[in-house]
Amino acid sequence: MLKASNIYKSYGNLPILKGVDFTVEKGEIVSIVGASGAGKSTLLHIIGTLDKADQGEVFIDDTAIHRLSSKELSAFRNLHIGFVFQFHHLLPEFTALENVCIPAYIGGTKTDIAEKRAMELLDLLGVASRANHKPSQLSGGEQQRISVARALINNPKIILADEPSGNLDSENAAALHKLFFDLRDSMGHTFVIVTHNEDLANISDRTIHMKDGNIF
Ligand SMILES: Nc1ncnc2c1ncn2[C@@H]1O[C@H](COP(=O)(O)OP(=O)(O)OP(=O)(O)O)[C@@H](O)[C@H]1O
Ligand SMILES: [Mg+2]
Repeated sequence: MLKASNIYKSYGNLPILKGVDFTVEKGEIVSIVGASGAGKSTLLHIIGTLDKADQGEVFIDDTAIHRLSSKELSAFRNLHIGFVFQFHHLLPEFTALENVCIPAYIGGTKTDIAEKRAMELLDLLGVASRANHKPSQLSGGEQQRISVARALINNPKIILADEPSGNLDSENAAALHKLFFDLRDSMGHTFVIVTHNEDLANISDRTIHMKDGNIF
C-alpha cells in the first residue's frame, strides 16, 4: 500500500537519505529504528508528504504523491494519513473531543457526524470520560491516546508515528503499543512507527534499521 523508491534527501550538502527503497503492505506494523540523526524522521516526513524528497517516488495505493501540488498534498494528507508524534501537539485551548474532530472539520465533515465518530474513537481508546477535558487536564498516556484518536478520525490509509511512546512511562508505552496492534487486528490499520523502544520493535511485524543514509 506504500512504496517509496530511490529516495534521496540532503540538507545543504549533507546527504541524509541515499537511495532508500521501502514498501509497506496493508495491515502491516513496521518499526523504523536507528541512531539519532540517521534520518528516520526525515524518511517518515517524506512518506507522510510533510517534506519533499530531492529525488525518488512515493506511492500510497495508486496515488503518486511526488506528483501532487502542495494544495493536493494537503487534502491527501488530511484524508489519508494519520500522524502521531512524540509530543502530542494537541491544541491547548480545545477539549479532547474538539481536538479529535479538527482533522474531520478540515476535511469538510459536518459537526454532528465528526463528534459522533470522535466519541466512538474516544470510547474505543478508553478515554471517553475525558472528552471534555483540556489537554492540560489529561495524563501523558491519555493525551497520547487522544492524539491517536485524532490520527484515526478520517479513517486514514496509513498511520505514521514518530516516537509515539517516547514520552511515556513503560506501563503507558506498553498500553499504547497494545492499542496499535488492537487497531490493526480489529480494523486493519497500517502503521509505520519510528521508535527507540526495543519492546515495540520486537513485537512489530518487521523492523527496518536506518544507517548511513539507507535501510537494512
Ligand atoms: N531542516 C533541516 N535542516 C538541516 N538539517 C536537518 C534538517 N532536518 C534534519 N536535519 C539533519 O538531518 C539528519 C537526520 O535528521 P532526522 O531528524 O531525520 O534524524 P532521526 O533519525 O529522526 O534522529 P532522532 O532519533 O534524533 O530523532 C540530522 O543530522 C539532522 O541534523
Ligand atoms: Mg527523529
